[in-house]
Amino acid sequence: MAGTDGSTNGLVWNGVWKVTSWQFKQEVIQPKKERKEGRYTVVLNSEGEKEFEEFRVADLRPMGVSVLLAQGLVLNADTSRGSTACGAIAELREEEDEAYFSSYGHYSIHEEMLKDKVRTESYRDFMHLNQDVFKDKVVLDVGCGTGILSMFAARAGARKVIGVDQSEIIYQAMDIVRSNNLDETITLIKGRIEEVTLPVEKVDIIISEWMGYFLLFESMLDSVLYARDMYLAEGGSVYPDGCNISLAAVGDTEKHQDRIAFWDDVYGFQMACMKKAVVPEAVVQVLNPDTLISEPAVIQTFDCNKVCLSELEFTSDFTLKVTKTAQCTAVVGYFDIFFDRSCGNKVMFSTGPHCTKTHWKQTVFLMENPIPVQSGEDLLGKITVRKNRKDPRALLITLEIANRKQTYSVQ
Ligand SMILES: C[S@@+](CC[C@H](N)C(=O)[O-])C[C@H]1O[C@@H](n2cnc3c(N)ncnc32)[C@H](O)[C@@H]1O
Repeated sequence: MAGTDGSTNGLVWNGVWKVTSWQFKQEVIQPKKERKEGRYTVVLNSEGEKEFEEFRVADLRPMGVSVLLAQGLVLNADTSRGSTACGAIAELREEEDEAYFSSYGHYSIHEEMLKDKVRTESYRDFMHLNQDVFKDKVVLDVGCGTGILSMFAARAGARKVIGVDQSEIIYQAMDIVRSNNLDETITLIKGRIEEVTLPVEKVDIIISEWMGYFLLFESMLDSVLYARDMYLAEGGSVYPDGCNISLAAVGDTEKHQDRIAFWDDVYGFQMACMKKAVVPEAVVQVLNPDTLISEPAVIQTFDCNKVCLSELEFTSDFTLKVTKTAQCTAVVGYFDIFFDRSCGNKVMFSTGPHCTKTHWKQTVFLMENPIPVQSGEDLLGKITVRKNRKDPRALLITLEIANRKQTYSVQ
């Protein structure tokens, strides 16, 4: 099937000219650098007068003006990086997000994701076991990478699949799609989903593997929600459609000593000041499930078909039911993913410590000073999850437990 934008054989390239093997067959290619301007309607100067219209927030930062967003939030230029949580990713300039997309240009990261069987087989099973959902549908794959999800969708009976990726990996995807004779069905577009022009107005299904550490790290869900609001047809679905984040208490005195008490005597030197630097960095690691000392508590649930950007920053109260008398040395966080909506064969996977490990591992928040807890006790807490204003792809997570409050970064 031919693509639009002057392409042939269903392959479209919105990007910088680059010589690749497929180029010689003239699967053309229309470099497309068009930006979506005008998403913000009113801009105020320091006196509150309307001064600019229809610029991207990023373009205005150097001008030192305040910006009144459509949502009614006033920012000033100093703090607008990361803007409101809403739109922070969509507002990043290409050069601001370059490091993120170049990281996905490396093949090792795709190898790691493809080899994560829990992840990849869940997507495959969801599509292959629910072919009635895909039959004759138009599917958008947000962040297609090597094209694996696009190919699953094509094999599941989709009429047309559009894969979009800003990273250079898409050049490999073009060869991969062709090698598997799926170029009649799959159209690939290089660019940010927030900036490309799709060859269709609406799609029936959006698939994406957007999850980061602690679910929300990378903030790629922002881009999926952008695509949903822009392209999903009435009655269409985003998959995965459900996800939740859970916490549990951890009692691992040995590990705690290794990470914290260690600094009291390093080759005979006192380095205790390092503890204050070590604690706030959340650690991504595989947690030994034997060190869990509470039942898990779900602290947040998202319906990807309904959630809005502002809800991706939240505060939740939680209760951890303690199952073992111990010192609580840390709290662990992880997420579960569901392919559920309209599925005769529902598929889910968990990144929790009791399940087969995934490349997301778990995210561990270390206590500076352990909390003694009794079996049967309810450990009450509050968690706040927000984007780091200086880097909207990173997270700041504040945990309040037993009168202690600590902010952690996931980066
Ligand atoms: C986690 S990888 C998943 C790749 C592939 N779908 C898979 O399952 O193996 C996410 C991909 O999305 C791309 N991506 C992230 N945000 C994007 C955006 N806003 N526009 C286009 N591509 C994006 C990244 O470059 C990366 O290749």
